[in-house]
Amino acid sequence: MIIGTVKEIKNLEFRVGLTPSSVKEYIAHGHQVIIEQNAGVGSGFEDAHYVAAGAKIYPTAQEVWKLADMIVKVKEPLEAEFGYLKEGLLLYTYLHLAANEDLTRALLKSKTQSIAYETIELEDGSLPCLKPMSEVAGRLSAIEGAKYLEKPFGGSGILISGVPGVTKANAVIVGAGVVGENALKMLVGMGANVTILDINLRKLTLLDDIYGNQIQTLYSSSDNIEKAIKSADLVVSAVLLPGAKAPKLIKRAYYKDMRPGSVIVDVAIDQGGSTEVAKATYHDHPTYVVDGIIHYSVANMPGAVPRTSTIALNNATLKYGLMIADYGLDIAINRNKALKKGVNIYHGQCTCEGVCEAFNLAHISL
Ligand SMILES: NC(=O)c1ccc[n+]([C@@H]2O[C@H](COP(=O)([O-])OP(=O)(O)OC[C@H]3O[C@@H](n4cnc5c(N)ncnc54)[C@H](O)[C@@H]3O)[C@@H](O)[C@H]2O)c1
Repeated sequence: MIIGTVKEIKNLEFRVGLTPSSVKEYIAHGHQVIIEQNAGVGSGFEDAHYVAAGAKIYPTAQEVWKLADMIVKVKEPLEAEFGYLKEGLLLYTYLHLAANEDLTRALLKSKTQSIAYETIELEDGSLPCLKPMSEVAGRLSAIEGAKYLEKPFGGSGILISGVPGVTKANAVIVGAGVVGENALKMLVGMGANVTILDINLRKLTLLDDIYGNQIQTLYSSSDNIEKAIKSADLVVSAVLLPGAKAPKLIKRAYYKDMRPGSVIVDVAIDQGGSTEVAKATYHDHPTYVVDGIIHYSVANMPGAVPRTSTIALNNATLKYGLMIADYGLDIAINRNKALKKGVNIYHGQCTCEGVCEAFNLAHISL
């Protein structure tokens, strides 16, 4: 098979679908790989690295889209790329179709075989190709939070760890899933005084076993959230109700009791956010202030660290990409149930329930 990767054209997107290391794997499996010129530079991968791995470089995206049997990307195709979609082409990338009717219709019409990273699902319900980005966002939330507590960034001027003789910052994490666990790991490491809340007692028990008296676990009742947030210097919101908007657990009424310049990192912003004043921001203007509280709510946090994110993403996506390339889509999805769930559009028909529901499309089971 010919595997192709193009440069991402979404604003401020520096990740790339394939690393040189993944290229080597595809080639070792007997495939050819073609890469658009400079596709990897935003993640620190030069054309020479891809050539050394065995890929061929093409000067334009058009050539790569035309020649490839499977395009491996990061973000969904934008309108400028719709013209490249065609019958039988395999498209393997994040798609988030339920929020994008134009793209859904373009993929259906063109009969592009579309496999979405975010719907590949293991039997325990976990999403292996979404997980690495939650790991990145969780860890980054602690770093960004600590940064915006600094006075030059408008913060209250508290050093997250304190120093001997001076109290540590109080950090509160709402949600103990992948984002929450990773924020916790960082904040404990940075020396904060951390409280983590969740409604899932099994997760809290596990964290209690791991961290013991280094952390405080709390059941996520509104009473506990309110008490914890009022004395927080840094709040990380990491809740998820699968398939639904994030609950508005962090009330504006709590802000008046917080120290001015305290920070809320609303990682759940991509699901609508967890504060009553939630609005998405971008890396060029990542924060806004309400009632003296700094809100950081960038919806694509991993984009700030494209090299780490690209490599982490490849670690998760390579395995399924190789299955598609080695066996062809039909045999691959019969052999692997998780990958089957990743197929959203198959021969011009919608095969993902959430997407079909969103746009009233007939659902075809694979
Ligand atoms: N902004 C970004 O760049 C970015 C990147 C990655 C993930 N995210 C978002 O971060 C959020 C968390 O992702 P995740 O991968 O950790 O999900 P996850 O499913 O692993 O964890 C979510 C956790 O929220 C908990 N939860 C649900 N309701 C709660 C409540 N009322 N109070 C406390 N906890 C509650 C769940 O029990 C679960 O432990 C999602 O909205 C995800 O889309 C954002």
